[in-house]
Amino acid sequence: MKKALLAAIIGTSTLLASGTAAAQVKPEDVIKFRKGVYQVIGWHVRPMGAMVKGQMPYDQAEFVRNAEIVAMMSTVAPHAFVAGSDKGDTRAKPEIWSDAAGFKKVMDGFQAEAGKLVQVAKTATTVDQVRGQFGALGKACGACHDNYRNK
Ligand code: HEC
Repeated sequence: MKKALLAAIIGTSTLLASGTAAAQVKPEDVIKFRKGVYQVIGWHVRPMGAMVKGQMPYDQAEFVRNAEIVAMMSTVAPHAFVAGSDKGDTRAKPEIWSDAAGFKKVMDGFQAEAGKLVQVAKTATTVDQVRGQFGALGKACGACHDNYRNK
């Protein structure tokens, strides 16, 4: 089920990456896709957060698995901001497109922190060893949400 969902998302992102397909795609479909991307991200961040907070026992293999999915999805995310998808049922701010350089910076930061979390988790035998980098990832989410997402 999860594999099928990811395959669908990856398929869509490949489609969006090619110019002609992007031109044909409807803004409401892009918005749906974008929310799906962030739902997948949020879904996999949640158990890591529960482990870091001590609400769930630390399971290194599970932590790594979740971190890897978030890192992979962070490479899909840039493809979910096709021009024209700022209008409709979306919280994406127009600044994403009008301040493309600033947006790229927070997106790059997010990808870097997500990638780093995978590396850290792979050698972290205790939850204390992932706490710092998990916090850095959380800050990267906030850096974008604070400036480029409506309340
Ligand atoms: C580079 C910008 C950016 C980063 C980084 C980012 N987000 Fe978001 N996120 C957004 C935007 C923009 C939306 C609004 C999407 C929309 O409504 O079209 C959003 C929406 C969401 C949503 C709601 C999806 C829905 O169903 O409406 C969740 C959950 C979410 N983000 C979680 C996260 C988490 C967790 C992280 C970090 C691990 C993160 N995001 C990092 C920009 C970002």
